[in-house]
Amino acid sequence: MPGALAADPARRVAVVGTGYVGLVTGTCLAQAGAHVTCLDVDPKRIATLKAGKVPFLEPGLPALVTGNHQAGRLAFTTDPQEALGNAHVAFLAVGTPSRPDGSSDLSYLHSALETATKLLPKGAVIVIRSTVPPGTGDKLQDRVAKLGRADLQLVSAPEFLAEGTAVRDFQNPDRLVFGGPEPGRGAVASLFASLRPESPRILTDRPTAELVKYTANTFLAARVSLINEIARLCDAWGADVRTVSRAVGLDPRVGALFLRPGVGYGGSCFPKDVQALAAAAKSAGIELAMVPAIEQANDAQWRYAFEKARGMLGGDLSGKRGEEEIRQDEQAGGEGREHCRLVGMVGVEGEIGEQQHREFQHIVVEGAKELDDEQWTIAPFREQREIGRGHRQ
Ligand SMILES: NC(=O)c1ccc[n+]([C@@H]2O[C@H](COP(=O)([O-])OP(=O)(O)OC[C@H]3O[C@@H](n4cnc5c(N)ncnc54)[C@H](O)[C@@H]3O)[C@@H](O)[C@H]2O)c1
Repeated sequence: MPGALAADPARRVAVVGTGYVGLVTGTCLAQAGAHVTCLDVDPKRIATLKAGKVPFLEPGLPALVTGNHQAGRLAFTTDPQEALGNAHVAFLAVGTPSRPDGSSDLSYLHSALETATKLLPKGAVIVIRSTVPPGTGDKLQDRVAKLGRADLQLVSAPEFLAEGTAVRDFQNPDRLVFGGPEPGRGAVASLFASLRPESPRILTDRPTAELVKYTANTFLAARVSLINEIARLCDAWGADVRTVSRAVGLDPRVGALFLRPGVGYGGSCFPKDVQALAAAAKSAGIELAMVPAIEQANDAQWRYAFEKARGMLGGDLSGKRGEEEIRQDEQAGGEGREHCRLVGMVGVEGEIGEQQHREFQHIVVEGAKELDDEQWTIAPFREQREIGRGHRQ
């Protein structure tokens, strides 16, 4: 789109990978004054976006996409040349899913990097927005140099948004982290300059920035796993986890958030990132105790919830709507548990998106009793028991 190239050259931005993170990043940077072209290999996704539709539910995002698209600051394409050929800063926001051993699959990132390396103009900056194991950015910088493009600088700028509050999180960051050498790091930071200027900007090296992202998610996952274990103790001793959680959370050294028990954490980031950090440590020959334990505690919580569900149904899972899914979960060793884990997330965040409502049909145990009556009518099982309040129901 020619309009997208008319701006100050330093504000010409490409986003490679227009998924959750890429679309929010591209749209919010356009709103902040950049001229952004979002690239994706999925033609359906690009066609949907060109038609003015956002392929997932995110409050506030559709209006921003439409407004910036119409203003000529935000374009969508499947053509790498169109996105990258004139960009000064290219954000790589492709997926980094888990491999079966928990390590990160970086193949999408490698492919995106190769394309960017071929097409970006001299002196451009590549930003790694995807979540990647510490050390990845440095390795990729070497790779880029070996490909004859030592003029391109790599900067790590991890994304901290949560799905459901992504636009708000992006526009009101608690902090922004930029890792890498100057002048690339400063060029990236300047694109974010108007976003909540009073929030700290952490300017650091690439491995530190990468580790900040993993530490943040691992820390939050640890809180969830810890309060989940405490909830099980509450069930055993007739204590009330809500009171425990509130009283402990009032200590400013602890804080109140992410202290709601549930059926285990889930979603697209916590399981993947905790596993990836454990796997990265293992491959570096570093033996960790706590990080793998967080994951184990999470698995145990799911099993506990499952047994509670079985108890509610009199030990018999047959003849009930949803029994097939439950049995499949059991047979798969809990692998299909995202349906239940979603409720765990609801408990943690205290918010329920429309998409999650639809998932409730398979849920029999709720972690934190956050559902109101209307929401419970959507679920097939109206009986409700909370983890950690066993003696009160
Ligand atoms: N979703 C979140 O809440 C969240 C939050 C913070 C960080 N992250 C991290 O951000 C990264 C992206 O996550 P996401 O949820 O946006 O993923 P996503 O799966 O929603 O989007 C990835 C997109 O990249 C596209 N893609 C893949 N290879 C490509 C290529 N070579 N060129 C162009 N496009 C390509 C895919 O078609 C897809 O649309 C991951 O590393 C994730 O861990 C995600």
